[in-house]
Amino acid sequence: MSGQVPEMLYLDGEFMPLTEGRVGVEDRGFQLGDGVYEVVRIAGGKLIWLDDHLDRLRWSLGEIRMVGALRDHVLGVVIPRLLQLSGVGEGTVYVQVTRGAAPRDFPFPPETRATVLAYTRPLEPSPVDAILAGVTVHPVDDIRWARCDIKSTNLLGAVLAKQTARDAGAQEALFVGAGRVVREGGSSNVFAVFGGEVWTHPADARILNGITRRHIVELAAGLGIAVVEREFTLEELEAAEECFLTSTSRDVMPVVGVGGRPLAGGRPGPVTLALTDALRAEIARLAGLPAPALLRRA
Ligand code: PDD
Repeated sequence: MSGQVPEMLYLDGEFMPLTEGRVGVEDRGFQLGDGVYEVVRIAGGKLIWLDDHLDRLRWSLGEIRMVGALRDHVLGVVIPRLLQLSGVGEGTVYVQVTRGAAPRDFPFPPETRATVLAYTRPLEPSPVDAILAGVTVHPVDDIRWARCDIKSTNLLGAVLAKQTARDAGAQEALFVGAGRVVREGGSSNVFAVFGGEVWTHPADARILNGITRRHIVELAAGLGIAVVEREFTLEELEAAEECFLTSTSRDVMPVVGVGGRPLAGGRPGPVTLALTDALRAEIARLAGLPAPALLRRA
């Protein structure tokens, strides 16, 4: 195709510019949030950890009883094709599968024809200065449902939390559950360092088990950094040595403030920077790009 379109859409078997996509008013994703999604990172024109994302998508579909929705679907071929058509080098692919269009009713329609879509969007990776500056987080009560492990398009809890955080001047919301336990960020996982050990919430139904989170755990093991899946409270976090967030679009982001107060001296610590360097190097390796400059100074 001549003239690549950076925001290129695949919708139910057709490729088109994103602005040309149309979905029915009674699509259950639109009316009921009855669907699941993924966000996949593009770096150096390559899809990073695509298989992990497709596995999690199939798992999410199974949990909402749409187990066969992608049985004969060529999503694993469509997504690389989207990349070619869009020419995006740095960005994301958003993938969504809903229970399709049917007269509005809560139980499943007698016949489900899933709506499957995916589209590319350019996004520059965080510049080094922004990583080193870190982000601040704002604690909010976790009012979400009890199956946050499913990557559902039902995101009202996160929408409200992230707006509250923004209103408070913070870059990310911090979901705090029963017993003041820190669950995760509005759209990120949370790690904190205590006594040199990295703690993160167990991968249970209260959080999304992030793909970035999983790779950070692996990379930490390779560096001899201990990671423990263990709950910690907001009060414990306020006294942590370090804290960071992970997500597909932002890799690792050091947290330098919580609830309007500085955290961990207000600057990224050595464990955070070592893991940020490791993740950036691994993504560059997978993308076939030169190794990025190290953030951690010896
Ligand atoms: N969100 N927790 C929540 C609630 C999330 O929404 C996300 C990602 C993560 C991190 O998961 P991963 O490392 O697989 O991206 C954790 C995506 C990026 C989003 O909604 O845009």
